[in-house]
Amino acid sequence: MIQTPFYLIDKAALLRNLRRIEQLRAQSGAKVLLALKCFAAWSVFDLMREHMDGTTSSSLYEVKLGREKFGGETHAYSVAFADHEIDEVVANADKIIFNSISQLERFSDSAAGIARGLRLNPQVSSSSFDLADPARPFSRLGEWDAAKVEAVLPQITGLMIHNNCENADFALFDRLLGVVEEKFGHLLARLDWVSLGGGIHFTGEDYPLDAFCDRLAAFARRYGVQVYLEPGEAAVTDSTTLEVTVLDTLYNGKNLAVVDSSIEAHMLDLLIYRHGATVLPDAGPNIYMICGKSCLAGDVFGEFRFERELKPGDRISIQDAAGYTMVKKNWFNGVNMPSIVVHELDGTLKAVRTFSYDDYVASLS
Ligand SMILES: Cc1ncc(COP(=O)(O)O)c(C=O)c1O
Repeated sequence: MIQTPFYLIDKAALLRNLRRIEQLRAQSGAKVLLALKCFAAWSVFDLMREHMDGTTSSSLYEVKLGREKFGGETHAYSVAFADHEIDEVVANADKIIFNSISQLERFSDSAAGIARGLRLNPQVSSSSFDLADPARPFSRLGEWDAAKVEAVLPQITGLMIHNNCENADFALFDRLLGVVEEKFGHLLARLDWVSLGGGIHFTGEDYPLDAFCDRLAAFARRYGVQVYLEPGEAAVTDSTTLEVTVLDTLYNGKNLAVVDSSIEAHMLDLLIYRHGATVLPDAGPNIYMICGKSCLAGDVFGEFRFERELKPGDRISIQDAAGYTMVKKNWFNGVNMPSIVVHELDGTLKAVRTFSYDDYVASLS
């Protein structure tokens, strides 16, 4: 028995997404890079690298991890690189994408040896949530003035645009790409590659993958560019659970169950975006509010239905715990960090990482 809490990565479930990615690569000609900001549990990169082209990153450490643990094509991007980082970034990347023209120019000598690109901000996005909207007013994420970009075109071979956020609507993707083409089409034709970023939920069962592939292939043909996608969430969706155990139950007007985990420490993204967690099948006559064990009053995973009354020792699986979870876990309240366990394709469970008091101590000084 593996001690809870632990993240349980199911390779068979991961493979479902990877097969969709495989189909997309074959049908559209696009290259697909894993966005490490979303998921960087490198124990399963052996499987992922068979179906994806490489990784993209948001920092020096991510670019190094991508090169070292994933391989394939390695893209480096950062909102801002520091002077002391740039040589190591360049040494570990195949392409470097600058967020601004000033960074492109600042590092023109240091990065001259690899392909360089620039992030565009088309000022439209699929997000209506200010915190996550790359096109929010005064956004620092990318250049938006086509004339300024045109002036530095000789210094770059490609562009990156990330303006889709949790977008499961193909028609909306299509419209947004149309806006990009209107604003920047005359520049695209003079480049070798365009990355359309992440945020497109094309691995979903109902997503019109054929239409999406046709759109990407037509885009690539029209401008003569290699298209890249940078999925995070779409690559790992529904592949992982957070396994927790009930420690205590209370009744305070509602049935509460406290578990040996914390939404703030182990699924922080849900808290930030004010989304509830998912527990399946979420059916039965007993309704419980599942609460974390940190001191935060709102450390609540959500309210779910259960067949039986909960008692200490009961196991609960919190669903969809791959993206933006393990990369954001923290030591708040000294709550034990969940182990990382892989459910291998042959059915065995492998605990690939456990955390201890020593790790907690080592995270501070
Ligand atoms: C530049 C860039 N690429 C890719 C991604 C991955 O997005 P997602 O996990 O929604 O697919 C992000 C997410 O913020 C991003 O900023």
